[in-house]
Amino acid sequence: PTILVLASGSGTNLQALIEASRERDFPGQIAAVGCNRPNAFALERASQAHIETFVVDHTKYDSRDEFDGALMQEIRRHNPDLVVLAGFMRILTTDFVRAFRGQLLNIHPSLLPKYTGLNTHQRALDAGDTLHGVSVHFVTEELDGGPVIAQAEVAVAPGDTTESLAEKVQEKEHILYPIVVRWFCEGRIQLGSDYVTFDGELL
Ligand code: GRF
Repeated sequence: PTILVLASGSGTNLQALIEASRERDFPGQIAAVGCNRPNAFALERASQAHIETFVVDHTKYDSRDEFDGALMQEIRRHNPDLVVLAGFMRILTTDFVRAFRGQLLNIHPSLLPKYTGLNTHQRALDAGDTLHGVSVHFVTEELDGGPVIAQAEVAVAPGDTTESLAEKVQEKEHILYPIVVRWFCEGRIQLGSDYVTFDGELL
């Protein structure tokens, strides 16, 4: 299967996926990396790995519909089996999400359904949570609301800050995302109406 990764920022999750995809038995191939910011470091990481890149700059479009239309067109050129959102900081339109239904994954830095949206680490701290973490889910029309495929937990220690939590969560992200992408490429996970089916052995 071919994978297309969308990112907006530093691309550490992209890097983890690139490294995983280099493993001899990895079942998928990263065909391209797309960014909405022309100076995203993720583009650098992709070029260094000799992966094709494209930019669809959201500031150049008047509406979300036009931006998503342009993005969809670029993605379609590569005809990917899977689109992986890896720190892609744009909310996608319903049309976009429907077009890639069952083929679109996101990683979100909280134990969903807790803390959809932004500032998840601060919100976990404010709530006094002792457990925090990260979720990988199928993307549906609801923001950060699609069925969860897998989660990794981190313990919140006394004295943790948003920065220390972010660091701990990212470490887990870099392990979890490649595992889930591998499962998808092996045909083991599928999106049902509002749930995920998993076929095969866990880890
Ligand atoms: C990650 O923390 C991810 O959970 C969130 O955006 C961040 C992306 O980081 N959606 P990076 O660009 O992969 O380093």
